[in-house]
Amino acid sequence: MNKLFIYLLIIFCFIISPYSSAQQGDFVLAENCPPSFELTEQGVCRLLTRYQFYSSVQNKGLGGTRTNLPAHRDGFTPAQIDLGRYLFFDPALSKDGSISCASCHQPDKGFSDDLDRSIGITGKKVARSAPTLWNVAFVDKFFWDVRANSLEEQAMGPLFDPLEMANTPEQLLSTLRNNQDYQAMFAQAFPQQPTVELAQVYTALTAFQTSLISLNSRYDQYAHGYHQALTKNEIAGLNVFRSFVARCAECHQPPLFTNNEIAVIGAPEPAGRELDIGAEKTYNAPKLRGAFKVPTLRNITKSAPYMHSGRYDNLRDAVKFYNDGRGNSIPEGEEMLIHWHISEPNLTDDELDLIVEFLGTLTDESLTPQMPTKVPSGLPVIDEKFQLQQNQSLSSNQQVQMNQKKNNTAMQSGE
Ligand code: HEC
Ligand code: HEC
Repeated sequence: MNKLFIYLLIIFCFIISPYSSAQQGDFVLAENCPPSFELTEQGVCRLLTRYQFYSSVQNKGLGGTRTNLPAHRDGFTPAQIDLGRYLFFDPALSKDGSISCASCHQPDKGFSDDLDRSIGITGKKVARSAPTLWNVAFVDKFFWDVRANSLEEQAMGPLFDPLEMANTPEQLLSTLRNNQDYQAMFAQAFPQQPTVELAQVYTALTAFQTSLISLNSRYDQYAHGYHQALTKNEIAGLNVFRSFVARCAECHQPPLFTNNEIAVIGAPEPAGRELDIGAEKTYNAPKLRGAFKVPTLRNITKSAPYMHSGRYDNLRDAVKFYNDGRGNSIPEGEEMLIHWHISEPNLTDDELDLIVEFLGTLTDESLTPQMPTKVPSGLPVIDEKFQLQQNQSLSSNQQVQMNQKKNNTAMQSGE
């Protein structure tokens, strides 16, 4: 009798199994960690890099070529990281479904965009340039003016800022709770919590962003001892970069090429824009007038334009700024306490070129995550604004060529 019951149960399970998996919908979350992460016995992903084999002075993760990294965020489950990936690319997170995080943090543009200042939901430019998200796992203060202390706190900024995604907590929750795919995905990523909550949205976005690791560039191979990874010029550029004349590495310290601090360097605003006081506002501290976060220079060739205001559209100009003299761009009548490592390096044109050449060795996009081909909301992953930005990024030259092409085809087809 008992046996018969068990047989019947097994048969019943077989019959319903295709239906129960169909209910999960088209979105199955990953069970493995992203590359460079190891799945622990507790089922979470731990970062593995060669830098972890080195020691570091005061455990700060700063200094020479072979030094350990500072504290970082990891320990998320594969499902949380993957859920974060879908959320990151889903325009449903914005008020009208028109932009996603990825609209301004595009994987092929160094997780930035190619605008001086990003364009939000209103079509207007926001106050600052979109920073890269590569290696944010190692960052402990967020935004150019370091006003957020965690990635979770940071996420509320763009989601609810009227100029960015302009959503409300209520609308965001109802969008996600009313979506069957998301319900199932959140249940898989957060099995202890029966309902979709905002905290989980922040956790998943954090989990995804902290998987964006870039530590295997040609520079890194060189740092680990493979001398041939860099050309003679690139090595010369590295030496100028870390010399006590240029002092770049005092703030952009290897291996992350940032010391995770803020500094007043006095980079100019674009013509016509008033001074951005930066961290003075965050800390209510006049001596921090114009202080900004020292950004990483990893994948820097991908994330032009540069500086908080996107003032420089190429790397050479951004680097040259440092050579134009201490405080060269302070507006008249302003007082700013320029950091003592900003000096008058008097580098030659060749030396500036060498630095730029060296910065090109910091490119490693090998762990770029797969962009989802579709997202649970069903909205297009590459949205209108994304394409608009793509068009804007075509140089006028390309535009001319395109128009010429159009004219030619028009002529050929006899129109
Ligand atoms: C409209 C464009 C836009 C959208 C959409 C957007 N961001 Fe940003 N992001 C920016 C800009 C601009 C900044 C810098 C703002 C500042 O510093 O004041 C920024 C800063 C950040 C930072 C801080 C990085 C650092 O190193 O300090 C993170 C992390 C981030 N965004 C993640 C996200 C996530 C996650 C989403 C989606 C929920 C998102 N962004 C949506 C433009 C955008
Ligand atoms: C005193 C610390 C300090 C020193 C020294 C320093 N920087 Fe910076 N760097 C910063 C800060 C802070 C910013 C952001 C400033 C802003 O946005 O207004 C920055 C921005 C940059 C950027 C733009 C990054 C981006 O994502 O937009 C580049 C490139 C750069 N620095 C290269 C260099 C080079 C090359 C040197 C040496 C010649 C150097 N830096 C020296 C602090 C420093």
